[in-house]
Amino acid sequence: MTNIGVFDSGLGGLTVLKELSDKHKANYFYFGDNKNVPYGDKSSGEIIELSKNIVKFLLKKDIDFFVVACNTISVVAIDELKKTFDKKFISITDQGVEELIKKDGDVFVMATRATCLKHGYKEKISKLSDKKVFEQACPSLVSFIEQGIVNGRELNSDLKEYLAFANQKKIKNIILGCTHYPIIEKEIKKNLTYEANIIDPAKVLARDIVFDEDENLNIEIYMTNVNEISQKMTNIIMGKDFKVKSAYK
Ligand code: DGL
Repeated sequence: MTNIGVFDSGLGGLTVLKELSDKHKANYFYFGDNKNVPYGDKSSGEIIELSKNIVKFLLKKDIDFFVVACNTISVVAIDELKKTFDKKFISITDQGVEELIKKDGDVFVMATRATCLKHGYKEKISKLSDKKVFEQACPSLVSFIEQGIVNGRELNSDLKEYLAFANQKKIKNIILGCTHYPIIEKEIKKNLTYEANIIDPAKVLARDIVFDEDENLNIEIYMTNVNEISQKMTNIIMGKDFKVKSAYK
């Protein structure tokens, strides 16, 4: 049996869990810390502490390895997690970068404030290619999505602003550098005035990951704030009904 811990600050990592579990059978244990979301506006110290707590919770499930389904945690805290826990941690950002460097053209990274401040994508891409990398923090998007707002005037007006530079320069590749963003990919496309190559690192991760698969698929989903919205959004993202469990019981 392979027990995989998948975690994020909230609902976003479910986009990774969905891609993974559609392609690979295993025992998945998901943790979304939606009581403390967004992580993207927190300090590095806070993000590290919160992610250590998530890992401690999941370790009780006898986890074989972890998928860090949050770009912010991958960029800010993964080194500290690797130092603290004797486990394998797969970073969602590494997957996006590997795919990107195979493509022509420059890169527009949409991500949280914390990911942009640390230049998580920019540094990795610049080490491997001479692509120009433009980072755009999109601070309101995670909060909209966590509230169940995935379209509408306010969201679209913020998207228009966040995508203005990409539209102006027609930047060929766009990385969805936050696992929440694939949930609103349709709206993102609607606000682009040109045809961009949109990279969802979750799809790359699910395509390329190799491990000993199980015969059966099992998924348990834990959150720190189970409510009507988190329950409804989970079912929408996963494409079927799940009973979200409280991490505190
Ligand atoms: N989904 C997360 C990411 O991939 C973080 C969102 C947040 O909590 O700010 O970056």
